[in-house]
Amino acid sequence: MEAKAFDKYEYRLAGECLSFTPSVLIQTTDNEIEINVLQRNSEADELIRRLIHGISESEIIQIETDRRKDVASKILIALKDNGLLRKHAPPKGRSGKEVLLEIEDLSNKLLYKTLYKNIFWEKCSKAKTQDDIPLNVIYGMIIENYHFLHRESYFDAPVLSYVSNTEVRLAMNEFYAEEYGHDELLLKSLEKVGISREDLAQTAPLTETMALCNALAYWAHNDPLFFFTTLGILEGKDIKQDSFLDAAYRIGVSPDLLSPVKAHSDINLNGKHGTLTRKIFSKIPIITEKDFQRMKAQTHLFIELYDQFYSGIWKFYANSHSLLRQIKLSSERDRIGSHNCK
Ligand SMILES: [Fe+2]
Ligand SMILES: [Fe+2]
Repeated sequence: MEAKAFDKYEYRLAGECLSFTPSVLIQTTDNEIEINVLQRNSEADELIRRLIHGISESEIIQIETDRRKDVASKILIALKDNGLLRKHAPPKGRSGKEVLLEIEDLSNKLLYKTLYKNIFWEKCSKAKTQDDIPLNVIYGMIIENYHFLHRESYFDAPVLSYVSNTEVRLAMNEFYAEEYGHDELLLKSLEKVGISREDLAQTAPLTETMALCNALAYWAHNDPLFFFTTLGILEGKDIKQDSFLDAAYRIGVSPDLLSPVKAHSDINLNGKHGTLTRKIFSKIPIITEKDFQRMKAQTHLFIELYDQFYSGIWKFYANSHSLLRQIKLSSERDRIGSHNCK
């Protein structure tokens, strides 16, 4: 059971447990106290083991009142009567899991208010023919995702050395090993419409794409804890299938063009990348109230940027005949030009 926000105290064993069997033997600074356990079971062992690290006040109350935990309850009473329970204030804060669930509630609320209602996702959910989604938007979505994935190291790399928590660091490194090079998958799609790696290297992403990349890079450097909350959303934590791909197949976009995009989507789904944030936060024992409040405030900004990333794709590619915003170098000045799909 998690410590509740209203738990003022937790309880720990006031001594060292020397033996579990045949009776529980606890050594205090000046005494050895034996607690007889008439009926041994795993519940009793578990209780003592957990008391070594501390059990929340609310759980202690639950054990005392739960008739199914009769053995544990009797041991608890015996420990109390012998002064073997030490009460102390737990660290101020909440568990990583508890914090994440609240942040997920907030981000879901914001996603339903904004991103899921924006023009890009509205069109994807309703499109029946190519009159509903211009092909340029389909290509544009792949181009902007290429730019985003091409810059994934900007924001994933800073947290690979996350020293505060070994398990989190390992999970992040494992994820990065699976992620690395996904821009190459999308490049395979773009090559089918005549866009090369060289073309893309001389192309500026949309400002909305770059804003998202830069914000994530900033958070990864300066606020890794918050950055971890964004990964589940970016990797599609609630998605069972990709609505963009569904729409593209439905309106008759060539399956050959879409197959590398589908391969990428399948890696996310099969590799359970969407659950990475939950995995990370389950390894974080405590988050302070101050960190929690800051993370909530930043969630608003992140969802706004993510919403603008997709809205920006529709706004630009649905209204532009050219696909690539080429950066042309001239002797006089640099400028952004355009490139038509071959
Ligand atoms: Fe990926
Ligand atoms: Fe992924």
